[in-house]
Amino acid sequence: MIILGIETSCDETAVGIVADGTTLISNVIEKQTDIHSEYGGIIPELASRQHMKNISNAVKKSLINSKLDWSDIDMLGVTDGPGLAGSLIVGVNFANGLSSSLGIPLVGVNHLEGHVFASWIDNENINEISFPIMCLIVSGGHTDLVKMNGYNDYELLGRTRDDAAGEAFDKAARVLGLGFPGGPEIEKVAAKSNEEFLFPKAYMKGTDDFSFSGMKTALKNLADKELNNLYEDFKLDNFEFTVNKIANSFQNSMVEVLAKKTIDISIREKCKGIILSGGVAANTILRDVLKDSSPLPVFIPPKILCTDNGAMIASCTFFKIREKISKSLFLEPIPNKSW
Ligand SMILES: Nc1ncnc2c1ncn2[C@@H]1O[C@H](COP(=O)(O)OP(=O)(O)OP(=O)(O)O)[C@@H](O)[C@H]1O
Ligand SMILES: [Mg+2]
Repeated sequence: MIILGIETSCDETAVGIVADGTTLISNVIEKQTDIHSEYGGIIPELASRQHMKNISNAVKKSLINSKLDWSDIDMLGVTDGPGLAGSLIVGVNFANGLSSSLGIPLVGVNHLEGHVFASWIDNENINEISFPIMCLIVSGGHTDLVKMNGYNDYELLGRTRDDAAGEAFDKAARVLGLGFPGGPEIEKVAAKSNEEFLFPKAYMKGTDDFSFSGMKTALKNLADKELNNLYEDFKLDNFEFTVNKIANSFQNSMVEVLAKKTIDISIREKCKGIILSGGVAANTILRDVLKDSSPLPVFIPPKILCTDNGAMIASCTFFKIREKISKSLFLEPIPNKSW
């Protein structure tokens, strides 16, 4: 079954085509980084306008890349929430139009569930995925620890009480004067340092929740203390060295908490494996630390499928249909859709 998935929940206009939920055929991602980076964050109004400009071409490009035409597409999937209302409306409306004009059934997909299903795509160890499995979704808007007991059977065990992990990376990068999105920028400069400041790690003992605001404040205080004088005195080599060292300390603290809590809770819950997904799952240190320290098998999508994409929505659609969880509907966006 060949499925075309559409994703417009935030600032990527993305269209993917996947066969049988597992084989990637095409993956078109139109980013809007240049538009939002001058503001240091996503401006919802600009995001939805840009989706309108991009969506038709993204769908066309996806079909051209796949060398398929509409008669080959069995099913459509679209993210209907959670996400920015104006952004979701563009994708959902476009998908409703395609479905009614072409007569192809359409399924609404939860964006976070989509992130989880990125692990099913082009995964040579797919047969090792068995339930229950722990899913850590770390993205720009979420840090959710979800026990997946089966298809469409999710138990939300923990979530962030303040910033999402990706949001914390983005804010940390802004304090250090780095670019947007902040996660890849922090990763890049942290790789130039092997030194660390003493940095807090918020384990939130006794709960399965996360909290990153303390680490963010620690970074701000450290930046105020260590960087201001260097800048004023034009000690620019030292300035760069210290930025890299702060970024390295922050990244290591984030990674340690995310990996250790996820592994401990997965073992306690008798899970058979761990799935890491969402934009922050593109972080090489997090990927390596989780894999190296987990006694359970760890599944992480390729980096390009960690951040928002349409292929993960197509994959999730396939399993919803195969497991008879969803049927075709005329969809409406649900900005606060939950598990
Ligand atoms: N290498 C990296 N290291 C750390 N964080 C990263 C990396 N690459 C991307 N990110 C972060 O991932 C986030 C974007 O992820 P994603 O596209 O999944 O978020 P979103 O779709 O905006 O949010 P959500 O999925 O919660 O709706 C950004 O905050 C970005 O900084
Ligand atoms: Mg996302």
